[in-house]
Amino acid sequence: MAEIKRRNFLGMALGGVTAVGAVASLVAMKKTWDPLPSVVSAGFTTVDISGMKEGDFFSTEWRGKPVYIIRKKSDAEFNAKRDFKINGAIYTLGIQICTHLGCIPIFHPDSNGFLCPCHGGRFTIDGINVEGTPPPKPFDMPPFKVDGMKLVLGESGPEYEAMLKA
Ligand code: FES
Repeated sequence: MAEIKRRNFLGMALGGVTAVGAVASLVAMKKTWDPLPSVVSAGFTTVDISGMKEGDFFSTEWRGKPVYIIRKKSDAEFNAKRDFKINGAIYTLGIQICTHLGCIPIFHPDSNGFLCPCHGGRFTIDGINVEGTPPPKPFDMPPFKVDGMKLVLGESGPEYEAMLKA
């Protein structure tokens, strides 16, 4: 009888140790799979655009790519596919990488557009490729969310989704 009790105790003890080991392994595996905090924060760029005036051009970086933000000058320039509004002011943004072969086009305020130095590709202020020049499509747009007068690049908010649906 004492032998059976001892076996039951040993069986339960072994089962308990195994269960604790299994849980510890799962916790360790989850920690390994989760991205590091530095990686998570690197996915987002927050930009304060409260100081931008009409016609201003602002450049930043998101996930290692150049992103421009322009505050347009008038309502007549509004393009629902490429622009969004905050308190009535119109902004446009895009990833400033040429969709031809990846050079960095330069914004020229006087012509209200971008010129790519590599093969003469041109884009409008909206980031739309100009027909007859090498780029096959508009600039890509980063997902973004409006948070007051800040943009959070890397997060998809209603303004970004509305542009995609327009
Ligand atoms: S890389 Fe821009 S036009 Fe070719």
